[in-house]
Amino acid sequence: MAITPGKRMLRALKGERLDKPPFWLMRQAGRYLPEYREIRSQAGGFLDLCFSPKLACEVTLQPIRRYGMDAAILFSDILIVPYGLGQGVAFKEGEGPVLDPVRNASDLSRLSLDGFHERVAPVYETVSRIAEALPKETTLIGFAGSPWTVATYMAEGGGSKEFVAVKRWAYGDPEGFGQLIDLLVEATVSYLSHQVEAGAEVLQLFDSWAGALPEPGFRRWCIEPTIRIVAALKARHPDIPIIGFPRGAGTLYVPYATETGIDAVSLDTTVSVAWAAEALQSKLPVQGNLDPILLVAGGDALDREVERILSGFSGGAHIFNLGHGVTQTTPPETVERLARRLRA
Ligand code: CP3
Repeated sequence: MAITPGKRMLRALKGERLDKPPFWLMRQAGRYLPEYREIRSQAGGFLDLCFSPKLACEVTLQPIRRYGMDAAILFSDILIVPYGLGQGVAFKEGEGPVLDPVRNASDLSRLSLDGFHERVAPVYETVSRIAEALPKETTLIGFAGSPWTVATYMAEGGGSKEFVAVKRWAYGDPEGFGQLIDLLVEATVSYLSHQVEAGAEVLQLFDSWAGALPEPGFRRWCIEPTIRIVAALKARHPDIPIIGFPRGAGTLYVPYATETGIDAVSLDTTVSVAWAAEALQSKLPVQGNLDPILLVAGGDALDREVERILSGFSGGAHIFNLGHGVTQTTPPETVERLARRLRA
């Protein structure tokens, strides 16, 4: 049988069904790996790590060396964009991200794209270094947060459960909030375009809080900005595959996947495999969607779920991944068990 040339990840993204789907894991670099914790303690703060091309490149490669994933994802964070726009961003130990909140037109007027690329330039250098260092069969993924998700952190001043500040702004002053979204669309296009120029071969948009919005808001603040980002990126880089991850979108995965122009859709853990095979995979490649906590639990429960997902998506193009990021308490051995099964 003829073997199609090219990296496995890129073949799947073009719609090819592979007998062994390519795999990578969201948050595959991180605190569950002892070698990450070692580099992290050398770097000082989390942002120092993100802005050290040498160390950020090193932690990007760590999971690839251990497990041989088909793709490496740039080690960085979605909150680099607000930082680049001039917002105060800090990562507090044990607390997560803390930002100086942006909640109205006057707060917004202090942010701009002037100086953005100078502020985030080390990220582009990290991308070039990774591109240089990766094994030839491994694909490099660049990424950004989607405008809605980034806006939630910007307006709330950090993580949130109820999204009161960001929704009060979006519902009460949609025009004004739209200006924040417009700024994020422009910054995201330019930021991702620079990542492609530095060597990223695929892009992923993380809309982690897409599921917090009812349908009209989802269409206005998740789908529409994504349409604009994808169109602008494709105009500059026609061949760049883009993966969208509207976490928690439920049945709205369908309009997101079919109307935004993305090349593949990443499924959260709650999405039914049978439903997604029918409603989504028949139209575009899917990525996902193992529960990351199964990598903590391990054993038969992990094995059974892996088989269920592999067989459910065996009829079309599939990239094996989690439904969300690897969690901190994951034993590295269960990731090894998963990797062995996926390569077998
Ligand atoms: O996937 C990877 O390996 C690449 C690196 C990556 C990180 N964050 C590293 C990180 C990626 C792709 C992200 C994306 C990101 N960041 C998202 C979208 C995906 C998702 O999880 O929904 C979001 C919402 C963020 C914002 C963010 N960054 C939060 C809320 C936190 C704190 C929570 C936590 O786990 O501590 C971070 C910090 C962060 N980003 C860490 C890592 C490895 C942990 C920081 C540390 O080492 O101290």
